[in-house]
Amino acid sequence: MVNLRKEQEATLARPRMAYKPMARMLFWGMDLFYGKALTLRKVQLLEILARIPYQAWELRQYLRLTHLYEDGESVDKGRRITTWAREAQDNEFWHLLVVNERMRQLGIQKHWFWDRWLPRIAAFKYRLFSRLLSLIDIQTAFYLNAQFEDHAEHEYMQFVQDHPELDNEKVEGAVAREHGNAETWGDVFRRIGLDEREHMNNSLAFCGLPTVAGADEASPAS
Ligand SMILES: [Fe+2]
Ligand SMILES: [Fe+2]
Repeated sequence: MVNLRKEQEATLARPRMAYKPMARMLFWGMDLFYGKALTLRKVQLLEILARIPYQAWELRQYLRLTHLYEDGESVDKGRRITTWAREAQDNEFWHLLVVNERMRQLGIQKHWFWDRWLPRIAAFKYRLFSRLLSLIDIQTAFYLNAQFEDHAEHEYMQFVQDHPELDNEKVEGAVAREHGNAETWGDVFRRIGLDEREHMNNSLAFCGLPTVAGADEASPAS
């Protein structure tokens, strides 16, 4: 069984990656519109965007394999990427559902602009960007995603650290218990943070870079 508190400590003890300008611009854009502090509204946007690179990579691999299906090596790599991309985007979608459940539980009303229109505009632009980047330079796309995921992992673990009251709040809804069966909201967010580490590790592994030690091992690239 994973010790989520130990994993949280490991994240907080590990410095963030040295984010490159492209990643810093993305984080700056989110901070500009939603503020620097992590709120559920900002997490909602983060999770809407988080699925998009995986969708772009999956699509790219299917397009490539239309012509490369006779090349065993390309097929093998393409299938590993699509398998990982499908798993990761399903996992990111679970994160989004959890955040939605939490907002509903707290009675947070969705705002027509901040919760609906702005995420749609951001998703549209990020989709175009991700598709283009995956076509031009997939390695850069993997590395950018590793930075995105490292940022998300640290943000979630810091969020729990900043809100100790979450450990006294029992999970009632079914969605939040689906993965990890956490008893408290503190553990739900720790579990999500750990998922982000796994996403980061897999992104690094596909770049041929060393991964970070943790409860979940990077495997699809090996
Ligand atoms: Fe996520
Ligand atoms: Fe993620």
